Amino acid sequence: MNNQINLKEYIREIPDFPKPGILFRDITPLLAEPTAFQEVIDRLTDYYRDKKITAVLAAEARGFIFAAPLALALGARFIPIRKPGKLPFETRAFHYELEYGSDSLEMHTDSIHTDDRVLIVDDLLATGGTISACIELVKHTDAEVVGCAFLIELLFLQARHKMNGCDVFSLIQYD
Ligand code: PRP
Ligand code: ADE
Repeated sequence: MNNQINLKEYIREIPDFPKPGILFRDITPLLAEPTAFQEVIDRLTDYYRDKKITAVLAAEARGFIFAAPLALALGARFIPIRKPGKLPFETRAFHYELEYGSDSLEMHTDSIHTDDRVLIVDDLLATGGTISACIELVKHTDAEVVGCAFLIELLFLQARHKMNGCDVFSLIQYD
């Protein structure tokens, strides 16, 4: 479509954050422009509308920003995946590596139903460590991961090829 907003114009580049050598892609200018933020949710909704998604899962914190409105737009449940010690009920944990460190993620053991069709959402795909951890957490259930959606994909890290065939969709790519 010709009248689409150029979303890249709303991503700010911050060199050497949070560590030397990392070019940080800052989404806050996009979040501060409602028409651009709405366009992100609309484009993701268009892509997943007919895929019978029943649950949208995301890791804190930036993943929540896009996953929650997308879940509402798709009429699906929102499942928060959190850093250790934050979820109050019984949890399952998974350890993973980041582009600039390592971390663990937890989910409530009752959050995913066996017949769920799960969409995993994050703001950015870098090494794929975060999203792989989310996929591993879903794998412990009988639910199906229908796809993984991102606002931004860092193509040079080639993470989409490590996703075990999971459909990857992104709105902005950087070589
Ligand atoms: C960032 C980003 C993604 C992840 C991408 O999260 O929001 O979740 O890194 O990197 P990866 O593909 O190498 O895993 P971060 O852990 O910095 O946490 P935040 O969302 O709380 O800022
Ligand atoms: N998360 C992992 N790598 C990132 C980057 N380069 N910019 C913003 N968030 C990130």
